[in-house]
Amino acid sequence: MKVTVVGAGNVGATCADVLAYREIANEVVLVDIKEGFAEGKALDIWQKSPINLYDTRTVGVTNDYSKTADSDVVVITSGLPRKPGMTRDDLISTNAGIVQSVTENIVKHSPNAIIIVVSNPLDVMTYAAHITSKLPRTRVMGMAGILDTARYRAFLAEALNVSPKDIQAVLMGGHGDTMVPLPRYTTVGGIPVTELIEEDKLNAIVDRTKNGGGELVKLMGTSAWYAPGSAAAQMVEAIVRDQRRVFPVCVKLEGEYGIDGVYLGVPVILGKNGIEKIIELQLNDEEKQLLETSRGHVKEVMDALDNINAAKA
Ligand code: NAI
Ligand code: 2OP
Repeated sequence: MKVTVVGAGNVGATCADVLAYREIANEVVLVDIKEGFAEGKALDIWQKSPINLYDTRTVGVTNDYSKTADSDVVVITSGLPRKPGMTRDDLISTNAGIVQSVTENIVKHSPNAIIIVVSNPLDVMTYAAHITSKLPRTRVMGMAGILDTARYRAFLAEALNVSPKDIQAVLMGGHGDTMVPLPRYTTVGGIPVTELIEEDKLNAIVDRTKNGGGELVKLMGTSAWYAPGSAAAQMVEAIVRDQRRVFPVCVKLEGEYGIDGVYLGVPVILGKNGIEKIIELQLNDEEKQLLETSRGHVKEVMDALDNINAAKA
């Protein structure tokens, strides 16, 4: 299996490293626009192979898409990260231009690839990649739900003093402050979380999760990469190993949850064909309302992108 990661920055290089050391692909191609940057990161990852004992061949290229030809999966992380004070939506214009041109190059050289978008604002960059690629919606998706859920699970594990491995959870909606937490679908070793933690503590964890990206931006002056890179690699693994894992993934909704034409995180089954199935949960009124708020926010940014593209045309 051949996997391309576009953007050799913090998230892209972390994703490529996980793909290599966990031998998720036979070949990983790292692409960046900055001269020599991807080559250097890929060489460093390759030189780690005798230490960490893996044989995934990792190569880097500067903007040369011929080397990405016939990739099975492509992860797009190219774009600017969030700086303190910036919202994800501030990134829209610059990152949309980057994601659209990268997608054109990818599809030209790997028409059968499955595309995973990471660049922010995530839901709208997934839209940008999808319309540019002209691929079916099952083959173009965004990574955010696994990261947001991981943050929520990590906070819960800390509060309950249990292993994060035993916490199962799902979150829905857009990546950002309007994400939709679903505590009634959260379990700890099969036990509903509501039986193990007081409501106010759970609410505080939900709030911290919603602001989880911003918390790290404040601490580091740029956005996170270990968990985001690993989350993208976990999606690649589910696809290349046809694992049929159940993850929250951003995809274009076409009537599911009563929503049409908006890109939102929902639980899906992920396998060799990409999104094998969208799972529709029976949401209660409060959850439906939260999802509607999230839909409205993402749609606003999608419309802003449409206006930017129309002005350029
Ligand atoms: P970074 O700045 O470390 O890396 C981005 C890389 O993209 C740079 O090396 C840059 O040279 C490259 N690049 C820019 N234009 C390019 C082009 N046209 N072709 C190829 N490469 C190009 O940024 P970082 O931290 O890796 O973040 C990347 C993106 O991922 C940002 O948009 C960030 O907001 C987003 N992100 C999304 C998350 C999510 O949950 N979906 C989580 C964390 C970050
Ligand atoms: C994050 O959630 C900023 O989207 C990025 O870490």
